[in-house]
Amino acid sequence: MSDINPGRTVSLCIMSGKGGVGKTNLSLNLGYALRDMGHKTLLMDCDLGLANLDVLLGLAPEKNLQDLLAGRVDAGEVVQTVEDGLDILPAASGVPEMVEMDENQQDSLMDTLNGIITGYDFLLLDLGAGISGTVLSLARMAQMRVVLVTPEPTSLTDGYAVIKVLNAKYGVRDFLVVVNQASAQEARETFERLNNACINFLGFELMHLGHVRQDKAMTQAVLHQTALARHAPQCPAIKDITTLASRVARFRDDNLDTIAARKPLRQIPFVTR
Ligand SMILES: Nc1ncnc2c1ncn2[C@@H]1O[C@H](COP(=O)(O)OP(=O)(O)OP(=O)(O)O)[C@@H](O)[C@H]1O
Ligand SMILES: [Mg+2]
Repeated sequence: MSDINPGRTVSLCIMSGKGGVGKTNLSLNLGYALRDMGHKTLLMDCDLGLANLDVLLGLAPEKNLQDLLAGRVDAGEVVQTVEDGLDILPAASGVPEMVEMDENQQDSLMDTLNGIITGYDFLLLDLGAGISGTVLSLARMAQMRVVLVTPEPTSLTDGYAVIKVLNAKYGVRDFLVVVNQASAQEARETFERLNNACINFLGFELMHLGHVRQDKAMTQAVLHQTALARHAPQCPAIKDITTLASRVARFRDDNLDTIAARKPLRQIPFVTR
């Protein structure tokens, strides 16, 4: 397969060490924000053990990523349109064997995905928490990696662990950090703590993409099974997520030539700086 990316798709994964820090809600609302800016986006549920992106949208998909990988269905039967310009590729939940993928499964997943994501501006991968083999291999395949943390010390320690393992295993050194459920000041302090650990112990710096404020509208949106971007489009968390989306979109604009010459996902880690 050639290394040309005619759709100029940028892949971005959202990961965390600790579970429950807000990855799925961030992925979902970032998808809406990018779509609202005119970027065609595919949201992919990569929490292959405990998928739930579809639940946040009140969808009950009949076919999923696992069916696609098993060759039981075509991409067209699995990808669902949420809104014009925003599609979702759902996954099955409670499928323990998908938590770990061998090299062949990883290659097959990558080839399948590279085949269907041309035409999108962004591919957002909502990863499962932790450092399972599948999480790590998907994280290294993506062009951009967001590590989501909250100011809680446990979240920070676990976020550092993810970075450390990806660096040790695959040599990945480029990470964007988003601090969730934090004010701008708390986010700066949290980022500095994580960044200092990386500088001192791993020898590289992190990039601070931004933060998302704690917002009770998020809980309401989850209960209503509606994305916050539609449930309360003017709320503080959506304002913050829109800022994150603009930064991500600017990255794509600034790097279009490089991006267009590469597959959106590949087995060799991308170095974006
Ligand atoms: N900015 C926020 N303000 C208030 N609540 C939030 C915010 N972000 C996330 N939450 C809440 O945190 C909970 C967990 O969010 P989410 O499911 O997105 O986490 P996750 O990291 O994907 O979890 P998992 O690791 O299980 O996949 C949700 O109930 C959501 O309402
Ligand atoms: Mg999740």
